[in-house]
Amino acid sequence: MTTRRIIDLLRNGQPNETVIVKGWVRTKREQKEFTFLEVNDGSSMAGLQVVVNQDVPGYAETMKRVNTGASVEVDGMLVESPAKGQRIELRASSITVYGEADPETYPLQKKRHSFEFLRTIGHLRSRTNTLGAVFRVRNAAATAIHQFFQERGFLWVHTPIISASDCEGAGEMFTVTGFDLKRVPLTENQAVDFSKDFFGRQSYLTVSGQLEAEIMAMAFSNVYTFGPTFRAENSNTSRHLAEFWMVEPEMAFCDLEGDMDLAEAFLKHIFKQVLESCPEDMEFFNQRIDNSVLATANNIIDNEFARVTYTEAIAILEKSGKTFEYPYQWGSDLQSEHERYLAEEYFKKPTIVTDYPAQIKAFYMRLNDDEKTVRAMDILAPKIGEIIGGSQREERLDVLEKRIQAQGLDPAPYWWYLDLRRFGTVPHAGFGLGFERLVQFMTGMGNIRDVIPFPRAPLEVEF
Ligand code: 4AD
Ligand code: MG
Repeated sequence: MTTRRIIDLLRNGQPNETVIVKGWVRTKREQKEFTFLEVNDGSSMAGLQVVVNQDVPGYAETMKRVNTGASVEVDGMLVESPAKGQRIELRASSITVYGEADPETYPLQKKRHSFEFLRTIGHLRSRTNTLGAVFRVRNAAATAIHQFFQERGFLWVHTPIISASDCEGAGEMFTVTGFDLKRVPLTENQAVDFSKDFFGRQSYLTVSGQLEAEIMAMAFSNVYTFGPTFRAENSNTSRHLAEFWMVEPEMAFCDLEGDMDLAEAFLKHIFKQVLESCPEDMEFFNQRIDNSVLATANNIIDNEFARVTYTEAIAILEKSGKTFEYPYQWGSDLQSEHERYLAEEYFKKPTIVTDYPAQIKAFYMRLNDDEKTVRAMDILAPKIGEIIGGSQREERLDVLEKRIQAQGLDPAPYWWYLDLRRFGTVPHAGFGLGFERLVQFMTGMGNIRDVIPFPRAPLEVEF
């Protein structure tokens, strides 16, 4: 007999079926002549209730070894459950203990734990209800993303994690080196001599797969990357990670309107799919984490996003009469509080802001005819702020060269990027979705560290 997943039994199991389940004990309630166990195998929020009668072989001794956290195999027969809220339960005919968990030292006893505490036991926290639900939703969202692009004929391209170029031109990169740090070779000017390093030049963990995705879009028209990216910004906030996953589509023969339309359809698709494949988990978030989670999801699916230019957004902020912590004026970057005001209070739905001032955006964004703004778009989500950043790319060689220089960057390492504008250049556009910010947005989780299994942030690299 094969082992059945608990979600399958809860949905489809019938009385009188004999089954095997394997999982971890969440709770144990001893009665006089039998014991209730709740066994969870991670396949669903709800566990399976197991009833172990005292006539099960080795009852007394086995029950001593079975406590919260223990791993077990249970063989038995499904029966209708007399208890409220569950259709079936499992009457055990035998129990095998794989591994015990000492009640004195196992940290996850049945009670509420703070997310801060759970982060200190990153090797165990996935066994809790909330983190379990988060990682199932994360999986469903990732699946929906691939499905969305594959259905539309986008090629999934794998861009490198180690890179020599700074895509965002912001200098927030981790260096990758093969040097023995006790004997770093120096040049005559006492600078680090990266020509002697593994790659023969300074290399980094990538901040974005965009530049390489553009190369691939110039061959396959529509492509996307979905992989880890890295930022060495020392931002200790609830929305920043040093290692996060980014989804980056790139489309040839596409302008900013096409880019925004795709991004909006994309977010709607993911929400729809996740509501369909994880209804219990989403219900849980709505009840226990943030009671606007389901309303938000439906709002996204049913309504068009708001679209405004940056210049209009600044006017809205001015008219709001609100005092913000950070000042703003035309030309300054929007702070999280400004973004949230726009999406949360003013439009009350995801808001796409376009045409930002050129000087606050990356060199690759297409310059508008006013020569002051670029064809950028950020999608701002209520409670989170920016979840997507994208743009139409500068496809004109001479303008791009000027922009690189204007941003004080050395054009030499971008030679191949410039070549794309020399050979068969086309209008093209793309965007990057911060995958963890999306999962935060979907689940209502307050801290980005709790929507990625193993968060990497300043001073945080334990597990
Ligand atoms: O706006 P960003 O920096 O855009 C890019 O990297 C472009 N190359 C994307 C593209 O056009 N292909 O980052 C994109 C998104 C942000 O909107 C945000 O959701 C997320 O990545 N992000 C972060 N998420 C978590 N932690 C961080 N430190 C993040 N920095 C950006
Ligand atoms: Mg951005």
